[in-house]
Amino acid sequence: MDKSDGRRLSVSIIDVVDGREEQFITLATHLEATLIRKEYGRMEVIRDEALPRRFYAARFWSDAEAAKRCHGDREVQALTTTLYQMATVMHVINGVRSADALRLQLDDRRAHVDADRRSGFDRRVQDVGRPEGDRRTGERRVGARRLRDVAGGIDLVSAARRAREHADASYSHFKVGAAIETGSGAVVTGCNIENATYGLTICAERVAIFKALSEGHRVFTRIAIVADTESPTPPCGACRQILWEFGGNLGIELANLQESKGKHELKDLLPLPFDARLL
Ligand code: THU
Repeated sequence: MDKSDGRRLSVSIIDVVDGREEQFITLATHLEATLIRKEYGRMEVIRDEALPRRFYAARFWSDAEAAKRCHGDREVQALTTTLYQMATVMHVINGVRSADALRLQLDDRRAHVDADRRSGFDRRVQDVGRPEGDRRTGERRVGARRLRDVAGGIDLVSAARRAREHADASYSHFKVGAAIETGSGAVVTGCNIENATYGLTICAERVAIFKALSEGHRVFTRIAIVADTESPTPPCGACRQILWEFGGNLGIELANLQESKGKHELKDLLPLPFDARLL
């Protein structure tokens, strides 16, 4: 292939949530057909023989412009949103020239490019380090991060209740605790920490996710938020934006000191989000 060739290649690793494989295959077929119908290029989805919930999606764009048009296409965006609800997507090659792509070592890229469950064409391909915190050794397979398969098995609400005890709410006296679960099943907690200048106060949710990010975690599944209130305490607008940025469509459980006050998905609390896809 000539270097002047305008064609572009994008490759993603897709880990589908347990039980949604058939739904994913239907969606992928739909996406493949849309790319051809609208003349954006073509897409091939390959299932990993060893890991039945893992797929590789290669998109061959007609040219860079076609790739951009595709990312701005409402129909494609709707399909992609559905995809993100049933899978975690790691972009490993983002719109490079097809010829150059041949020289890329996939495994090498996988070690350096981080998971991004939402971003579009060429966002976040820079090296942000190996998320060692999301890797396990011992009887568990070490490699690409294991996703969601332990969701539900951890008492996040209790962890958030315990974290709330550490809240420093000297001004509002409104203590909040949060616990976020990572893709590998680790739990990182946070509490609100207030300041005499009020505006520097930071919410429990942001403390939790910033702590987790700073420890190398990059994949998140759920967060629990606890306050001592009869009605549920949902995350504030700033926290919703931060959680969306780094956690995508997280499961959110609200609770007080006695009981659960409801489960939500972040997409419902933050409709029409502003994120990397719009940049
Ligand atoms: N707060 C949180 O930590 N999380 C929420 O979801 C709502 C509000 C904190 C911020 C501040 O310290 C106190 O609650 C009152 O707004």
